[in-house]
Amino acid sequence: MADLDDIRDGQSYGAGIPPPDQKFFLKGCDSMDWGMKDRMSRIFNPKTGRTVMLAFDHGFIMGPTSGLERVDLNIVPLMEYADCLMCARGMLRTVVPATLNKPVCLRSDAGSTILTELNDNVVLDIRDACRLNASAVAVMVAVGDKKYEAPTIANLYKAVDKGMKMGIPVMGVTAVGKDMVRDSRYFGLAARVCAENGANIVKTYYVEGFEKVVSACPVPIVIAGGKKLPELEALELAYNAISSGASGVDMGRNIFQSDSPKAMIQAVRAVVHEGLKPAKAFELFKSLSKRKTSK
Ligand code: 5RP
Repeated sequence: MADLDDIRDGQSYGAGIPPPDQKFFLKGCDSMDWGMKDRMSRIFNPKTGRTVMLAFDHGFIMGPTSGLERVDLNIVPLMEYADCLMCARGMLRTVVPATLNKPVCLRSDAGSTILTELNDNVVLDIRDACRLNASAVAVMVAVGDKKYEAPTIANLYKAVDKGMKMGIPVMGVTAVGKDMVRDSRYFGLAARVCAENGANIVKTYYVEGFEKVVSACPVPIVIAGGKKLPELEALELAYNAISSGASGVDMGRNIFQSDSPKAMIQAVRAVVHEGLKPAKAFELFKSLSKRKTSK
């Protein structure tokens, strides 16, 4: 029974004080529902508007590639430095400690391995993404591939419909076919196609002229690291992408294949969140690596 004898009238209405400006900190996200915004704020740091996603989903297509032979030994120790984890559901369920409480961008398409042709024809049931408390799902799109462009765009489209129902953002991952020219024209097209089809985040590759790719894409862009580079070059790549307007990195091999992955992820963080110049970040990398070896 409700207590009726001491109902106090409200007194503190703050009349004349306008409500706080609720403009969201990421582009293209103002019209999102609360749950989506909450998930985006778990992936992207609201203070910097940026993210360091740690990608270790490669095994779903490549098997135990270098650095990912033992995710429990090699990747779990890096997770505390990541803003978000990107992986496939099998590795998440079996190896990633749920107690970490890190947001997860779940790889949600499947169907290919390196032994066959690209053929991502399965999309994760969105209920499984909910069960796994995913903060986003990632689906690859093969723009320009005669055979797989249409089915992969359809995968993205369906994933967005399902994600919208559940409040889960979708990251469109631009795949680059062997015959594609890796330039800003191609990536500008691929990123825009992902966003126009409803992707809430786009993952693509840094190239010269990247400002144009970012400007023409109405949602946040993160870049993949690509093949392993010398550390200074990888830090330059991250710096150039951020300076061109990228909202973060979703980096794998350039972190976990480094001689000192823990030092590398911390140096990448300094570039992404503090805008540290590549030379300084490389100094940081070297000093953190030394600390590790002298222990
Ligand atoms: C492939 C992916 C990978 O996660 C991605 O390429 C990131 O890893 P790397 O930095 O090693 O390129 O999404 O589709």
